[in-house]
Amino acid sequence: MRILSVVGTRPQLIKAAVLQPVLRRSCEEIFVDTGQHYDEAMAGSFFAELGLARPDHSLGIGGGGHGEQTGRMLIALEPLLRDAAPDAVLVYGDTNSTLAGALAAAKLGIPVAHVEAGLRSFDRAMPEELNRVVADHLSRWLFAPTPAAVANLAAEGITAGVVDVGDLMLDLAARVSAEIRDPAALKPIAERLRLPLTPGRYLFATVHRAENRDPIAMAGWSSLLGAVARPDRPVVLALHPGTRAALEAAGLMLPAGVEVVDPQGYRTSLALQLHAAAVLTDSGGVQRESAWLGVPCLVLRTTTEWVETIGGAGSSAVLVGLDRDAAVRELTARAPFANTEAQAIERADRLRLAGSGAAERIVAVLTAATAAGTGTATGARN
Ligand code: UD1
Ligand code: UDP
Repeated sequence: MRILSVVGTRPQLIKAAVLQPVLRRSCEEIFVDTGQHYDEAMAGSFFAELGLARPDHSLGIGGGGHGEQTGRMLIALEPLLRDAAPDAVLVYGDTNSTLAGALAAAKLGIPVAHVEAGLRSFDRAMPEELNRVVADHLSRWLFAPTPAAVANLAAEGITAGVVDVGDLMLDLAARVSAEIRDPAALKPIAERLRLPLTPGRYLFATVHRAENRDPIAMAGWSSLLGAVARPDRPVVLALHPGTRAALEAAGLMLPAGVEVVDPQGYRTSLALQLHAAAVLTDSGGVQRESAWLGVPCLVLRTTTEWVETIGGAGSSAVLVGLDRDAAVRELTARAPFANTEAQAIERADRLRLAGSGAAERIVAVLTAATAAGTGTATGARN
């Protein structure tokens, strides 16, 4: 079976790093990078760190408005798909690269496999929500990471081809968590970043959603981060280059106690989460990684598609949006300053994360369906 997979952004490289080696055991893969993310720290470094193959095609399409970016991807992908004539096109997640890959394939009658199908924030102002809905409705195979995602698809009348396979990102986090569990893993990171990082004595943050790049929103989360930072517990903000550019364009300075660093590699990101007092983020990936690691997480959004990380008994994540008072209140309740050092050390010590086997299930479904000459999906998790 020949699969053409499309990636383009940081989280897609991370997911592909788990699926690719398993896929290549039984399928021919044509690996296409749209280039949506293009900085070394957002894309290039992940190839080396995570052992990804060199793309067969690098389209070099980053930046620009949504329509322009997606349109340029469609223009580049169409002839490529025609020439390669794959049995399926595989797309990940909810980015413009996902939308372009799914749409280009569907228009040519090539079956689409969507990894991370069925997620819904029910907020159509988010570009990601539009991308997910369209990709799901175009897909033959819908690889859902959670039962909630399966239910969302059923509510939209999609049941054929839906399989709950688990989460590729959990599988990578499970593998890598053993390497970064020892608090000593923080030492080289602290030295490289020139920050005094010790377990439980800093907060880790990321911000990159389009809605959080608006000047009013930026003033909101910047003031929120300033309110939770203390001289003896700074916020380490690994800043997406798009957010950095938006802050600069708006002439906004971040408050004292917020230490801005460049985007970090995958292992560093996971280690900074695990050993933090708490995480503040609008990232879907970071939100669920912190839940798996058991780190308190304040989500800088008012909705989420990762509903299982929120609200349940023992849940470590909470939606605070840009509400400064709510953030201070929730942080005090979930990570009381006097306890966070002990909490962080105990959490890391206890951490034993099991993977979900998502890659193996995805490949089993794809290969079985081709062998049977059908698009019928089997192989869901129990
Ligand atoms: C995209 C995805 C989002 C995902 C995120 C992961 C869409 C609509 N959004 O958002 O779902 O959560 O990736 O990080 O696809 N930029 C750089 N250097 C880079 C990459 C981007 O400077 O390496 C700049 C771009 O020029 C652009 C801005 O950042 O101005 C936004 O980049 P873009 O890829 O459009 O969206 P993200 O915000 O990264
Ligand atoms: N991540 C990273 N370096 C960073 C920030 C995040 O490697 O500086 C990782 C993070 O651990 C997670 C993934 O990037 O695995 C999440 O991607 P991102 O936040 O860009 O996108 P989202 O998940 O919101 O789509």
